[in-house]
Amino acid sequence: MSAPIVDDDVARWRSDTPGCLKRHHLNNAGAALPPRLVTDAVQAHLALEAEIGGYEAAAATRAPIDAAYRALAALIRAQSRNIAVASSATAAYAQALASFDFARDDVILTTSADYLSNRLMFEALAARSGVRVVEAAELPAGGVDPASVRALIASERPRLVALTWIPTFSGMVQRAADVGAECAAAGVPYLIDACQAVGQVDVDVNELRCDFMAATARKFLRGPRGIGFLYVSDAALARGAHPLLVDMRGANWPAPGRYDLYDGARRFEQWEQPIALVLGMAAAARYAMDAGVARTAARAHMLAGDARARLGAIPGIRALDRGEQLSAIATFECAGIEAAALVRALRERGVNVSAQGRDENLVALQRVGAQSLLRVSPHYYTDASDLGAAEDALRQSVAPG
Ligand SMILES: Cc1ncc(COP(=O)(O)O)c(C=O)c1O
Repeated sequence: MSAPIVDDDVARWRSDTPGCLKRHHLNNAGAALPPRLVTDAVQAHLALEAEIGGYEAAAATRAPIDAAYRALAALIRAQSRNIAVASSATAAYAQALASFDFARDDVILTTSADYLSNRLMFEALAARSGVRVVEAAELPAGGVDPASVRALIASERPRLVALTWIPTFSGMVQRAADVGAECAAAGVPYLIDACQAVGQVDVDVNELRCDFMAATARKFLRGPRGIGFLYVSDAALARGAHPLLVDMRGANWPAPGRYDLYDGARRFEQWEQPIALVLGMAAAARYAMDAGVARTAARAHMLAGDARARLGAIPGIRALDRGEQLSAIATFECAGIEAAALVRALRERGVNVSAQGRDENLVALQRVGAQSLLRVSPHYYTDASDLGAAEDALRQSVAPG
């Protein structure tokens, strides 16, 4: 049992987070406010690089770099050998996809809640290689129906099952472990986009039974921008999985006509690494584990529930989220006002939220039945003053004067 969160915990988390003094930050699904020790880790390494040279700084930091992989692995209950650093969740996801030699009529089985860039990659594979993209059905309450995944695995024999665990512009949490059980039973590779999940919910790759899992540092994990990671299972590594365009971080060249892969997920990395950001991401992983992800998840979800109730009660605002289990992302539509305009209005009042419009992702917005969508994403360090400020600012913005 994890210890209950008390006011002192929240006060400490906020005093560790300088941005809390400046902003009511409800855009953790975009990029969270980092705790001070994350920015300290990044800045210290950049300073060392400037003082002694970039390669020399990396050599002097070997042990902390190894420890960084161990911290990321511990966060998701894996081993260091399963972790590949990538520049973003998208880059990690692309590396995983690039390990499949897709041929015409190969099926990628996915859901209706893909992150836009993931779906664009599938569209590009369909256009180039003739891959077919099949969507599993939804549960009546929203979110993928694992029974539909089972049936489609049997009828379509997919090369890959892909799932966005916590979608970007919807408050639901998909049943990632149940889908994993179906994939494991049928021996189908399984790729999870855990970009909004890592740092928000407790992640155990052994329960998820995935072959690949992509994540980013800057969102609920509270790490720096420009860095993320890919988990690759031992089974996938043993099968020789590696990206189509492997580089010298992933393999050596013993003779013309041959390349020998290195052990471990490093074969999914590229040689050049922003070491400062890797160290910052690891500091964020340690901070999340110290805070206790299971307990901080409960608080973030409770605060998102408050946001749905309070903001959804403002005349003209409609809370959109549906699903069996809801995440720390709360979404709203505002009658007659573009969400992007509300984002600007709230920002002027010191409140950070985000928006998505039909021009960016028409299909997704048609599916939720909204013209545009306002996203409010608290985290465990959010407090009542943040939600109160958001409520006041939104009331004034929808009914000025
Ligand atoms: C669900 C999901 N997947 C992937 C991404 C992409 O992450 P990154 O920008 O680190 O590539 C995002 C970003 O918002 C996301 O919400």
